[in-house]
Amino acid sequence: MSPGATSAPRIVVIHGPNLNLLGSREPEIYGRRTLSDINALLTDLGTRLGLVVETFQSNHEGDIVDRLQQTIGNCEGVIINAGAFTHTSIAIRDVLVMLEVPVIEVHLSNIHEREPFRHTSLMAGVVTGQIVGLGAAGYGLALRALAEMIPAPITVA
Ligand code: DQA
Repeated sequence: MSPGATSAPRIVVIHGPNLNLLGSREPEIYGRRTLSDINALLTDLGTRLGLVVETFQSNHEGDIVDRLQQTIGNCEGVIINAGAFTHTSIAIRDVLVMLEVPVIEVHLSNIHEREPFRHTSLMAGVVTGQIVGLGAAGYGLALRALAEMIPAPITVA
C-alpha cells in the first residue's frame, strides 16, 4: 500500500435461501424491496460510512459456510440473514463462532411473533447482536452499528 493510503474496512453481507426472491416473496411479510434494492442501499450507505460492502446470496448451506470461511482474516464485520437456515444450521453457527469480527444477525420479519419453529435462532448465541422485524431498514441499522464498532481505518505512514 502506498504511503498515506488507507484501507476501507470490508463488510460482508450474507443472504440465505429464498432471499433472492425478495420483492415478490410474501411481500406482506418481507416487504416489496428486492434483494438488489437492499444490496444497493447497503453499498451506498457503506460508501458514506467509509466501508466497502460485499454481498453474497445462496440457497445452499455449504456455499454459505464456504463464503463465511473466506471472510476469516479478510473482513472487519459480517451481516447475516441466514433465512430458514437460521433455525436449522449447526454448520453455519459453527463457522460464525470462528469469526473474530462483529457479526450482526438480521431478519426482515419479527421471527418471535411468527410460527414457533421460527422463534429459535441457532445463530443468536454466537452473534454480536440481532435486528429483527424492521424490514429492509434493519440492514442499514446493522451496517451503522458495525461502523461504530470497528476500529478506524489504518493509515500507512
Ligand atoms: C427470515 C425469517 C426466516 O424464518 C425465514 O425462513 C426467512 C426470512 C427473515 O428475514 O425474516 O427466509 O430470515
